Amino acid sequence: MGLLMLLHVLLVAAAARAPAAQAWGKEGHYMTCKIADGFLTSEALTGVKALLPSWANGELAEVCSWADSQRFRYRWSSPLHFADTPGDCEFSYARDCHDTKGNKNVCVVGAINNYTAALQDSSSPFDPTESLMFLAHFVGDVHQPLHCGHVDDLGGNTIKLRWYKRKSNLHKVWDSDVITEAMKDFFDKDQDAMIESIQRNITV
Ligand SMILES: *[C@@H]1O[C@H](CO)[C@@H](O)[C@H](O)[C@H]1NC(C)=O
Repeated sequence: MGLLMLLHVLLVAAAARAPAAQAWGKEGHYMTCKIADGFLTSEALTGVKALLPSWANGELAEVCSWADSQRFRYRWSSPLHFADTPGDCEFSYARDCHDTKGNKNVCVVGAINNYTAALQDSSSPFDPTESLMFLAHFVGDVHQPLHCGHVDDLGGNTIKLRWYKRKSNLHKVWDSDVITEAMKDFFDKDQDAMIESIQRNITV
C-alpha cells in the first residue's frame, strides 16, 4: 500500500511537471496558438475542431509544434519553416522564396499560401488535418524575426553565443531561450500565467 501510494504521488507530480519539461520551442508555438485560438470566430473554431486529430483533445495549441517533429520524416518540409533574404531585409517573393536548389515557392510564405489554399479547397488532394497543422505552425514561424533572417548566417543559427551560462545561438535565443527565461523569471514557470499576461497586453 505504501509503495502504491508513493507511486501515485510520483506519477501525479510527474504529470504536473510535464508541460514545463517540454522543449521551449514547443512552448512558443503552443502559446501563440493558444492565444490565436481565442480570436477564432465560432464558425472557424468548429471547422478547426473538426480537423484536429484525436490526440489533440480538441485543442489547436496541442498540434502547433507537430510540424517541427516531422522535419526528418518529411524532409521536404524542412525548408518550409523560414524565408531568409540575402541581407537587405527586403523580402521579395520572386527572388527569395525558394530552397537551396532554387525550387520556387519553397519557403514559409509559399507554405502558408499552399496550406491556406488547400484548406479552402475541398477537392485538395492534401490531408486537411496535416494542412491545418502545418498552417498553424508556419504562421507562428513567420512571426519569429529570425525565421525571416539572412541567408548568410542561416537565420542566426551560425551566430554562436552564450545565453547566461549555456551555449546557444541567436536563432535559438529567439525560438526558445528568451521564452524560457521570461517564463522562469516573471511567471514562476507557469505557462498559463504567461499566456494570460500576453493576452491582457494585446490591444486589438
Ligand atoms: C504543399 O503541400 C504539399 C502537401 O503537404 C507538399 O507536398 C508540398 O511540398 C507543399 N509545398 C509548399 C511550397 O508548401
